[in-house]
Amino acid sequence: MKEQVLKKFTELYGGDGDIRTYFAPGRVNLIGEHTDYNGGHVFPCALTMGTYAAARKREDRVLRFYSMNFEENGVVKTSLDDLVCSDAAGWTNYPKGVIWAFGEKGYQVPAGMDIVIAGDIPNGSGLSSSASLEVLTGVVLRDLFGIEVSQVELALIGQFSENNFNGMNCGIMDQFASAMGKKDHAIFLNTADLTYEYASVKLEHARIVIANSNVKHSLVGSEYNVRRQQCESALKQLQKVVSIETLGDLDVEAFEAHKAAVADPVEQKRAKHAVYENQRTLQAVKALKENDIEAFGKLMNASHVSLRDDYEVSCPEMDILAEEAWKIPGVLGSRMTGGGFGGCTVSIVESEQVDAFIETVGTAYEERTGIKAEFYVVDIGQGAGVL
Ligand code: GLA
Repeated sequence: MKEQVLKKFTELYGGDGDIRTYFAPGRVNLIGEHTDYNGGHVFPCALTMGTYAAARKREDRVLRFYSMNFEENGVVKTSLDDLVCSDAAGWTNYPKGVIWAFGEKGYQVPAGMDIVIAGDIPNGSGLSSSASLEVLTGVVLRDLFGIEVSQVELALIGQFSENNFNGMNCGIMDQFASAMGKKDHAIFLNTADLTYEYASVKLEHARIVIANSNVKHSLVGSEYNVRRQQCESALKQLQKVVSIETLGDLDVEAFEAHKAAVADPVEQKRAKHAVYENQRTLQAVKALKENDIEAFGKLMNASHVSLRDDYEVSCPEMDILAEEAWKIPGVLGSRMTGGGFGGCTVSIVESEQVDAFIETVGTAYEERTGIKAEFYVVDIGQGAGVL
C-alpha cells in the first residue's frame, strides 16, 4: 500500500520535493470492553492492517486531502484557517480535528500539507479505522514540522480531537493501541493512569481470528455516549456510599455490597458490566501469563455475555457469530470486540482448527442472517510511525 499511496500522490500533486510515507495500525481488543472510560483495564493489540499516508509540507496554509477509500470525494481542499467539523467534510473531519487539536495543545502547525491516504481496515468494522487515521495524522504532523511530541501524547491528542472535534466521547484505548502497539504483543493498559505493560500473544498452538459481521456499527456514536452517561450517573450514586474515583476501583465483592445505591436497574447493569469486565481483564492477563489460554478464552466468552446482556451493546449478528464459534471444538474463546452494535468478533482458535472455524462459522452465519462474514487470521503489528 505504501507504493500505492506514493503513486497516487505523484499523480495528484506531482513528484517533486520531500514526499514521506507513514503508517498507523487499527486494533483489536482481546478483552476489557467499555472499561476505558471507567478507569478500568484494557488489553488491545495493534493489527498489521491500518492506514497509510504519503505527505509533503507546503509553504502556504492550504491543506489538500485525498483518500483512496473515498475516491468519489476527489481532492478535498481546505486550509489551516478553516478547521471546523462539518458533515460535508466527511472523512477529512478526522485529520482536520487532529490539526486543530495540535493547536489546542500548544503545538501550532505552521504550514499546510498535501496528503494521500489509503487504508485496509474495513470502515465501520469496529477495528478503529478512525483512531488509526487520527494517530496517522499526528505522526505526519510531528515528522513534517519537527514537532516534539511523544507516541502517548499523539494518542491523547487523537482522543481529544475525537471527543471535542468529532463529538464522540471515546476512551483512550484505540488511539493508544494504534500509537503504542508492539509486534506479537498485546498492551495491558490501566486507563486510570496510563501505566501499561506488554504481554506476548504469540500463542504456541492458537491463532487470533477476527470475524467481520459486515454489519456497520452505525449506532455506536449516539448509544456510546448514552452508555458513558449511564456509567457516570451510576458512579455518582456509588460515591455516596463508597470512596472510589472510578468504577474500576471496585472489585466484584465491593460492587455487590454497594450496588443497591444505584437506583435505576439499567444503570446498575451498566456499572456491573464495567466492574466485572475490569476484573475479568485482570484475570485474563494473569491467565495468559500463566499460559492458561483456556481460562483466557472462558473469560472472553463471559465478556461477550456481559456486553450482550448487561451492557447491551451487541447485536443479533454478533451474537450469532459468537454462539456459532462457541459450538466448535478448538475455539478457546470468542466475543464481540470494540464499541459494539455491529462490527467484529475476536476468537482464539487452535491453529489446526482455523480453516474449519472459518468454514463452519461462515456457513452458519450466512444461513442464519443472509449476510456473508469475512474472516482475518491476524498478525499483531507495531504502532504508528514513519515508513
Ligand atoms: C470504542 C472506543 C473505545 C472503547 C471501545 C469499547 O472503540 O473508541 O475508547 O471505549 O469502544 O471498549
